[in-house]
Amino acid sequence: MAEPWTVLKVLQWTAGYLQEQGIEGARLDAELLLTEVLQLDRVGLYVNYDRPLEATELAAYRQLVGRRARREPVAYILGRSEFWSLPLVVRPEVLIPRPDTEVLVEEALQRADSESRILDVGTGSGAIAIALAHELPGAQLVAIDLSDAALAVAKENARSNNVAERISFQQGDLQSLPTGPFELIVANPPYIPQGDLASLQPDVRDYEPHLALAGGSDGLDCYRILSAQSRQCLTAGGWMLLEVGVGQAQAVQQLLTQAGLVEVFCRNDYAGVARVVGGRCAVTAKA
Ligand SMILES: C[S@@+](CC[C@H](N)C(=O)[O-])C[C@H]1O[C@@H](n2cnc3c(N)ncnc32)[C@H](O)[C@@H]1O
Repeated sequence: MAEPWTVLKVLQWTAGYLQEQGIEGARLDAELLLTEVLQLDRVGLYVNYDRPLEATELAAYRQLVGRRARREPVAYILGRSEFWSLPLVVRPEVLIPRPDTEVLVEEALQRADSESRILDVGTGSGAIAIALAHELPGAQLVAIDLSDAALAVAKENARSNNVAERISFQQGDLQSLPTGPFELIVANPPYIPQGDLASLQPDVRDYEPHLALAGGSDGLDCYRILSAQSRQCLTAGGWMLLEVGVGQAQAVQQLLTQAGLVEVFCRNDYAGVARVVGGRCAVTAKA
């Protein structure tokens, strides 16, 4: 009789298979997909290594592994992700929130207080706005996105994280920001240069929304538009904080400086990549 497909055997086979398909982190992905089928957490898998899978479980798992082998991101397969240790629903209409973006939240928290009025531009899943609302219990936020479908996901996430009553989600184009004024404007705008889109990892290129990625010919279109509006939308002393792509920090610092912001700075992420650029509306600018 053939040996049964136990949890351990299935994981080992799947990790090897996904790795052959060029997937980084194949073992973790194999585990996450199996937690979904068996309705266990990862520790639950480890203490059940010898448990044989039933035929229906194997069939369900095979389907999910097939999707991952076609490079569909695990977060879309599971329909969920995590940001700032908060659970978020994700669907293909929204970018999967990245851990790098948590550095933007850290910088924002250093400059906001619990009463701040905050604008999140291109909110997507709502990740940044929801993290800030969670940490700043008195803050009022406006979160805009061009995509109605993304806003529907963001609203769902705000409700499930109990911050919906303090975030006003609005459909809008970053070409014309709400005037506020805001103490803080944060954005993780689309910043991939047109010429780089085709060579992105298939997981990103073929599954994540083009609207969330494409930043124009040099990737800087949104930064030009946002920096130009910064002073009219910020309070005196207010900050604009922007996530930037690899190699874009210097150009974005220059844009903020040209727009008349002061104390312009750049912050690295935990991989050492310049990731957040910020600047401040001078305290005297609006006197
Ligand atoms: C890189 S994603 C960031 C999503 C989310 N803030 C995060 O950090 O995970 C950029 C977002 O900007 C939105 N977007 C793109 N162009 C826009 C525009 N012209 N006006 C407003 N939002 C836009 C996209 O729909 C997308 O949700």
